[in-house]
Amino acid sequence: MAEKARTKAVAIVGAQWGDEGKGKVVDFLASSFDYTARYAGGHNAGHTVIFGGHKYILQLIPSGILRPGKKAVIGPGAVVDPVALVSELDNLKKSGIDVRGRLFLSNRAHLIFPYHREMDRAAESARGAAKIGTTSRGIGPAYEDKMARRGIRVCDLLDPGSFREKLEKVIAEKDAISVASYGHKLETAGLFDSTMEIAAHIRDLITDTTVLLNNALDAGETVLFEGAQGTMLDIDHGTYPYVTSSNAISGGATTGLGVGPTRIAGVVGVTKAYTTRVGSGPFPTEMHDGDAEAVRARGNEFGAVTGRPRRCGWLDLPVLRYAKMLNGIDSLVVTKLDVFDAQAEIKVCTGYRYKGTPLNEMPADIGVLCKVEPVYRTLPGWQKPTTEAHEVKDLPVAARDYLNFISDSLQLEIGMISTGPERDATIVPRGTQLASWL
Ligand code: GDP
Ligand code: IMO
Ligand code: MG
Repeated sequence: MAEKARTKAVAIVGAQWGDEGKGKVVDFLASSFDYTARYAGGHNAGHTVIFGGHKYILQLIPSGILRPGKKAVIGPGAVVDPVALVSELDNLKKSGIDVRGRLFLSNRAHLIFPYHREMDRAAESARGAAKIGTTSRGIGPAYEDKMARRGIRVCDLLDPGSFREKLEKVIAEKDAISVASYGHKLETAGLFDSTMEIAAHIRDLITDTTVLLNNALDAGETVLFEGAQGTMLDIDHGTYPYVTSSNAISGGATTGLGVGPTRIAGVVGVTKAYTTRVGSGPFPTEMHDGDAEAVRARGNEFGAVTGRPRRCGWLDLPVLRYAKMLNGIDSLVVTKLDVFDAQAEIKVCTGYRYKGTPLNEMPADIGVLCKVEPVYRTLPGWQKPTTEAHEVKDLPVAARDYLNFISDSLQLEIGMISTGPERDATIVPRGTQLASWL
């Protein structure tokens, strides 16, 4: 029994700066798992899933919810804006997706309130030119409150008397900070009543998801841990301070869900065939010419949440090597291969040089990362469509060579290749570890 429980908890993580296509990958894999569980972040995430002519953008609710009958968990490590959650639930309902009895919200997750969004915007404007380029969803300030031990949690919604007391205390403290920093109080009028009203819509979802998931694993049920953001946005290991405020890496799944590390049987890293990032911060392989516009247009590289144009760059193997190490990636998924279908030549960054010498490790100091010189290898493009391929052998030779080059350089299997946004534009090579989890 214990062995069976161990073999079926798999984590999906972003190996770059987010938006790698995790939503599509999780949706694809979710049919083989009983649960999908989100362990970090909030509605800063935007996970796109397209099938049957419909496009769904999930922010907080795990993408596995789109699979009929499958269960989904929003864990203690996530931060939850109840208004955003209710709006996401409404959207799913409008699309005919019923989540009743199969979506579970952790009673330990921290809540995001409108004052967190206000603080997020205020902090960004105070940073001026050095702004992080956050999604302005209040994510950072909510995690700040959690770490400062003054956060309000989902379980607090269940006791209106104690919730009112906690809220009043926090608001008094925040108002004092806001007056001192920005010269005005926060907009909090009516917050207790509006929160109680919204809480009525999510009360039925609230439970101890930690016990739920551990019991499920003990009983031999299978769980997919859905990462949000990406390795390079991780609070501890990313391009600090141009990061998000949570642990996006696979380790975040254990702290963020309350499951032991021994439960994780495998880790899947998701990368695009190139690189993108939204917001500010170092990006060594950023394209600064017509290639960026071409990739942005072909890859539709605009933020799923904010609509911001994503910065585009070549594939960065040092980033992927770092991601492999930090996450313990067993299998790599390469998405958006089709975006290169018209590309004549493809550059891949194989290493960095700093002040003329090779840099073997990812530097901690972003001052260094901003100045590294990427070393490129240029590979021929295939200039043929890939979207119709359903097996590796159907891909153009140059596309297979590109994938083999990535796999050989990283010493990592490629467990899945995505050649279009739709569910069925997916190739799962046979004989891989990833294939064994399906
Ligand atoms: P996530 O945050 O990692 O889930 O990724 P996003 O959903 O934010 O961004 C990925 C975008 O690429 C979405 O618009 C997807 O529909 C799209 N996408 C995913 N896989 C592919 C692919 O293989 N080819 C193309 N052209 N688009 C893809
Ligand atoms: P998914 O799950 C891409 C970026 C923001 C900003 C930084 C901090 O869709 O991959 P925050 O609002 O979190 O404080 O912003 O992190 N960011 C993302 N970029 N994909 C995401 O999520 C992101 N979530 C946050 O653009 O640079
Ligand atoms: Mg996204």
